[in-house]
Amino acid sequence: MIKEHYLAIETSCDETCCAIINQAGRVLSNTVFSQAAIHSEFGGVLPDIASKNHSEKITYVIDKSLKDSGLSLTDIKKVFVTNGPGLVNCLMIGVIAAKTISLINNIPIYPINHIEGHIASCFLESKIAFPALCLVVSGGHTSLYILKNEINFQLIGNTIDDAAGEAFDKGAKILGLGYPGGVKIDQISKNGNSNFHKFPIANLGKNSLNFSFSGLKTSLKYFVEKNNNWIKNKESIAASYQEAIVDSLIEKIFLANKIHKTSSILICGGVACNSRLRNKVTKKFSNNSKIIIPSLEYCTDNAAMIAMRGLQLKNSDSYEKGFGVFSSIKKLV
Ligand code: KG4
Ligand code: ZN
Repeated sequence: MIKEHYLAIETSCDETCCAIINQAGRVLSNTVFSQAAIHSEFGGVLPDIASKNHSEKITYVIDKSLKDSGLSLTDIKKVFVTNGPGLVNCLMIGVIAAKTISLINNIPIYPINHIEGHIASCFLESKIAFPALCLVVSGGHTSLYILKNEINFQLIGNTIDDAAGEAFDKGAKILGLGYPGGVKIDQISKNGNSNFHKFPIANLGKNSLNFSFSGLKTSLKYFVEKNNNWIKNKESIAASYQEAIVDSLIEKIFLANKIHKTSSILICGGVACNSRLRNKVTKKFSNNSKIIIPSLEYCTDNAAMIAMRGLQLKNSDSYEKGFGVFSSIKKLV
């Protein structure tokens, strides 16, 4: 019998999110207020505008999540909240809201690492066979992890400069597609030829599990500057650029899987929405590995993934009530 329900809050960037999960891991509600349309006019996320909008929308998303799940605040037995990495002014809105709920209900509150949350999104809809290889690809992070179990995640590769999502967003800006760029490149690439131009994939050494995308973005910039007629081939340029990002991710998944011999391959984070990446990974690896890529709503920032990470950690005694927020990567468990 399901006795307990938990509430999670996520406000690390430009999505204001709340979700409710039960103790068996079933998501009862998942509310996301996306600020993408607000930030698109600035060509990227403005931290002050993002935190202002979180403060306006935070009670709305909490209220909606409670209503959607048919629960009231007094039914909630634990609170999970993202406390980093992210934009500190944004994180603070979620943390203060979560601490207030914890105080009013006199219930425990757990700080959750945003990247661990993305990894946990892979557990929302699937059973994972361990050891698992997990690629986290988002706007701020591009990293590979080995998961020995649902608690311990070991970092084995990272980007040395831009994240894959950043490469999509900056590339889209160069091509005049606006923000957020990943989904726009994904869409127009469907009408383009991915073999139109070979953009370079960074070579960091044949055994390196690290990524680099800043050279790729620069090569797109030079290509556009040198070719006056580029706009006629916009779709094919976008498709070729996307192909270079996708292939560089696949190359590292292949190498990591060869070195670490894992049973399943997990991909999460906003870039995991990319249709070309989803198709190519499934085709290339599904004969030998179980492939897990969450539904689109669980790839981009959401609180259901924070709830799942909270559920995984709730029995560990590693939480502190006086936690604050942090902006950049901190060691994972
Ligand atoms: O995980 P996320 O929502 O936020 C961060 O934690 O950063 O990821 C956002 C990133 C953005 O860079 C966005 O352009 C990218 O995910 N993204 C995509 C697609 N949808 C979102 N990139 C490529 N193809 C997509 N369909
Ligand atoms: Zn994220």
